[in-house]
Amino acid sequence: MSINSFGHLYRFTTWGESHGPALGATVDGCPPGVPLQEAMIQQWMDKRRPGLNKNTTQRNEPDAVKILSGVFEGKTTGTPIQLMIENTDQRSKDYGDIANTFRPGHADITYHQKYGIRDYRGGGRSSARETAARVAAGGVAREAIKAIAPNVQIKGYMTQMGAKQIDRSRMDWDQIDQNDFFCPDAEAAKEWNDYLAWLRKDDHNSVGAIIEVVARGVPAGIGAPVYGKLDTDLAAAMMSINAVKGVEIGEGMAAAALTGRENADEIFMGNDGQPAYSSNHAGGILGGISTGQDIVVRFAVKPTSSILSPRKSIRMDGTPTEVTTKGRHDPCVGIRAVPVGEAMMACVILDHLLLDRGQTGGVRGKIG
Ligand SMILES: Cc1cc2nc3c(=O)[nH]c(=O)nc-3n(C[C@H](O)[C@H](O)[C@H](O)COP(=O)(O)O)c2cc1C
Repeated sequence: MSINSFGHLYRFTTWGESHGPALGATVDGCPPGVPLQEAMIQQWMDKRRPGLNKNTTQRNEPDAVKILSGVFEGKTTGTPIQLMIENTDQRSKDYGDIANTFRPGHADITYHQKYGIRDYRGGGRSSARETAARVAAGGVAREAIKAIAPNVQIKGYMTQMGAKQIDRSRMDWDQIDQNDFFCPDAEAAKEWNDYLAWLRKDDHNSVGAIIEVVARGVPAGIGAPVYGKLDTDLAAAMMSINAVKGVEIGEGMAAAALTGRENADEIFMGNDGQPAYSSNHAGGILGGISTGQDIVVRFAVKPTSSILSPRKSIRMDGTPTEVTTKGRHDPCVGIRAVPVGEAMMACVILDHLLLDRGQTGGVRGKIG
């Protein structure tokens, strides 16, 4: 299975399966001299960790990250950083029934068609356990960003669960970490809580979600035109996350319904002597290059495929069957996808900060 790596200069390779002994990421290209300790990465792992509350999967993994290389006396050395997370709460027997069956909505059928062999325990390599390794690589990226562009802040949150959207007039970044849903609207979080409890317990069903990830304080000028666009890499980063079916930058798909007068963000000189914009329909990127505004990416995740309701499928021998998924699952994968989206944003922003050094050597056009 080729292509397990992501990024240009800041590049990570993930390895491991859901029910193997461990999984992790090998990070290549982190600059030397960045202060790095396991606890700095662990804080982000703890946001994604399963079993945190009743609204996520009950698989109970501590997701303790170990740094095996690339750090000496608390600082990165510039050599590959090996990050390892042990799997401790596998229940492979839950998956015995699906060894010869394809679960609808899962990668069982395509892995079999392509490779002719698969580790079916917990979905093997297709499991979202893989995203733990990305969050670890993102934790390293955050520390390296601090050293290069200390004003950058990266924050993700859910804006929609099923058909239930947040009310943007009630949006409050301080609320995001106060509820189970990383929801910036406290009222919506309460409603989602009741809805998801009913969906999980009574309806034996699941639901999709939309996650927004914002990078604030990114300097103008990172990214590149044509094939090196910042938005190209962000779209690839988010689309590579399990269950993601749509990615938007700024106004995204809704831009199609706007007129040119409504959509083009007007430019004026701000009080700080820097260009400012009347709005941010562009999502902080013009021509593939950051404007200095918030970079805004949104992605949609599909509803969890593993549900307690029977779904029609086939066995490997082609005979029909029904699958009712046992095992422990997220009723809405959008919740734990929030820290994963943040991690991917951090990796792309760091990658482009590093690329920018080589692309321009610090040259900038003067305004004002
Ligand atoms: C953080 C996260 C957690 C997930 N948890 C589950 C889960 O518990 N059960 C499930 O059926 N799918 C879950 N998924 C989605 C599956 O991994 C994914 O749908 C499956 O591997 C097929 O890949 P695809 O949807 O990208 O095509 C999760 C996804 C993410 C991002």
